[in-house]
Parts: sequence; C-alpha cells; structure tokens
Amino acid sequence: MKYKDIKKIFLDFFNKKNHQIIDSASLLAKDDPSLMFTNAGMNRFKKYFLGSKNPKYVRITNIQKCLRITGKHNDISDVGRDKYHHTMFEMLGNWSFGDYFKKEAIEWAWELLTKTFKIRKSNIYVTIFSGNINENLEFDKESYKYWKNLINENQIVFFDKKHNFWEMGNTGPCGYSSEIHIDLREKKEKKKIEGKKLINKGHPLVIELWNLVFIEFFRTQNGNLEKLSKSHVDTGMGIERLCMVLQNKKSTYDTDIFISLIKEIENITGKVYGKLEEEDIAIRVLADHIRAIVFAIKDGIIPSNKKSGYIIRKLLRRTIVYYFLDLNLKKSFLYKLVKVVLSEKNNDNSKIKENFISNLIKKEELLFFKNLFKVSKKFYKIISYLKKEGKTIINGKIIFELYDTYGLPFELANLFALKNNFIIDKFSFEKEMLKQKLRSKTKKKNIYV
Ligand code: ALA
Repeated sequence: MKYKDIKKIFLDFFNKKNHQIIDSASLLAKDDPSLMFTNAGMNRFKKYFLGSKNPKYVRITNIQKCLRITGKHNDISDVGRDKYHHTMFEMLGNWSFGDYFKKEAIEWAWELLTKTFKIRKSNIYVTIFSGNINENLEFDKESYKYWKNLINENQIVFFDKKHNFWEMGNTGPCGYSSEIHIDLREKKEKKKIEGKKLINKGHPLVIELWNLVFIEFFRTQNGNLEKLSKSHVDTGMGIERLCMVLQNKKSTYDTDIFISLIKEIENITGKVYGKLEEEDIAIRVLADHIRAIVFAIKDGIIPSNKKSGYIIRKLLRRTIVYYFLDLNLKKSFLYKLVKVVLSEKNNDNSKIKENFISNLIKKEELLFFKNLFKVSKKFYKIISYLKKEGKTIINGKIIFELYDTYGLPFELANLFALKNNFIIDKFSFEKEMLKQKLRSKTKKKNIYV
C-alpha cells in the first residue's frame, strides 16, 4: 500500500463518519504566542477546545504537517539515531469539538486499523492513564471499559502522566490519552519477551502508532488544571510510522516516503545506505532535515537570524555539519534534493516554488560553507592543543567566539565536540552570551541618550 493511498483511505474513512476533510495548516504557528511552530494537529483548533470560538464543523479530519524541533515536544536528538523519529512528520488526525468522545474515538481507531488496514490484532497494545494523586486525577475508567470490549485484556497497559496525559505546552488544552502501540518484531523475538513489557521502553520495533487524546482540561499559567465546559477528541497518528507498518518495513526511512530521497543522497554522495552506522545516521538526518527545511520554507519560514527563521537556519547548518563531518562532503548539495522532496506531493511541485527554495538553500549552504572550513580548522587546532594538555572540556568562551565570528551555533559546536570525545562547558558559553546581550542592550539605549 502506497503512502498516497494510505492518506486517502484515512481521510475517506473519517469522511464517511461525517468528518469534514480540511487541508494542513502552515508549519508556522501564526496565531499562538505560546508556540513557534505547529507541533501537533490540534494547535490550530485551540480556540475551539477552549470555547472562545465556535467551529464550523464539529467533526474534522486532516493530515497536518508538524515540526518538533523546539519547545515541549522536541524529537531532534533522536532523529537519525533511531529509525522512526522525525523533525517534521505528517499527522493523520480526527477531531471532535464537543461532539463524540471516548467510545467512538476508540471504536473507530480499532475499526480502521484492524478492519480497513487489516493490522493483526495480536500485534497491537493499548495504553491507559493510571491516574495521578497530586493532580487529583482518577485512572481512565471509561477508556478501559471501551478497550476491554475490543482487545484482549492482556494487551492493555497502564501508564502515568508522562505517557498518558497529553499537554500541548506549558499551558493550554490537555487531557487523558490512550495510545495505540504496535509490536513489529519477528516471532522468535516475541517469544523471548512479551511486547507488553517493551511499551514505552525505546525499543525500535515496539512503537507508538496513534495517540487518542481526550481534551477536558486547561492547564493555566500557575500550573492548575481547570475543567473545560465541553469534552473534545484530538487524535494523531504519524503517517511515516503507519506506512512503515503497512509496507512491512522496520524503519520509516525504508518506506516510499523516503526511498527516492535516500537513493538521490546515495547518488550524489557516492555513499551506500546500510553499510556503516555513522554514515547511515548522517544519511537519515539529511533525508529527515531536508524535508523539514523544504516544507518550512514553502510555508514562508525563511532562514534568517531571527526567531523561527533562525531555527530553520540552524537546522540547515546542522544538516551541513552532518554531511561535512560524517559523509566527508565538502561542497554544497542539499539544494539538489529539493525537487525530490517536492515530487512526493501531488499537484505541489510548481517549478517556480522549487527554484525559489532550491536557490535559497544553495545560498545558505554557500554562506555557511565559507565559515565552516575556517571553523573546523580552528576547532581542530583547539582540540589538538587541549588533547596535548590532557583535557577533555572546552571552555565555553572559545565556543562563543566561534559562534560570534563564524555563526556556529552552540548545538553544532557540541556535535563537533562530541564526535571528538570532548565536552563544552555550557555555563561559560551562556555567560558570554548573556554578556553580549547586555552589551547590545546598552548600545541600543545609548542611541537615545
Ligand atoms: N495531540 C496529540 C499528539 O500530538 C494527538 O500526539
């Protein structure tokens, strides 16, 4: 089953259950000061959950692009290291705004996965909120009741707030969640240890597939939970993972979403995916990040030195550092991948857009490259000196100078350092950063004196 067919089947399924199909919103969280990027399908519906605006439709379904590189939901450190996390992913979702609640959400999720997509029931596990005394929250009796009618009790597992209470950020709509996990291991592995015991333990083949969130509360600034006047449903399933399941793969990077991108990276770099762990990680990072960058730019987030633009610039520089260090590639090439990323999408590969994004990325690559050569030379000089001295910690002041002169962000300096078994003293880096901020504030003030 192809990526495009899977999307269509999902939307049609909920459309038949009277859900209005709508398009993805922008990756830039425009109307929400508590967020920089859209990190979940529900962001744009916050106003409906809170009751400050009435929705036109009480049931909606869509596929929302999400970016998880900042804030509460941030997966960047796992990306590439494992084979199923992404900075940008597409979230399949169905919503109820004060309409249906747990019963329908659970029954329809089960119907879609086991009847429509024919996923083996014995491979599925569901998790349920076990309650929390401090917050005065009971265990999720209702979800338990509905799941018990559908699935073997042995496949139901209880977890606490960390896994089964979903919050958008530090404040905002939130509630109990019930997650659907899948065990993709071989039979003989399953015999050794029950899948149930591997849920939420970071096993690469026992992973979360779908999150059903039941929004009933609002987390206030002072950390309290207030009950909302209506209850809502917010679900999210990453299409990359669903493709991995339905295409019988052990990695999202082996699905038809990524396969042509990885082939193109192999063609350009002359590397072969699946040979060396270090190179494989870099190839996955590249494939993941270039998708995120292209879609971010397409949504109007232009690399710059400010706010969301700076985050995208850093993501781009991170990608460059990976191919520079791990694929030993010393010239720009990311821009050549733009057309492959855009060809993923139906009706969406307008040549003008493609050229614009590709030129922009090329410019950014060239700009950073000039400094990267200098930075890496300086860096290796510093660490060879420190090595001779028998040291393993780099003073943050030196790293700050690299940042200030060559635009090397701390996270990337950290990548350099870790790869050479060094640690950066973050405290002294931050001290310098603070000093600079104070300097520029004083400068601004002086203008008006
Ligand atoms: N809002 C839920 C999530 O992002 C569905 O996981």
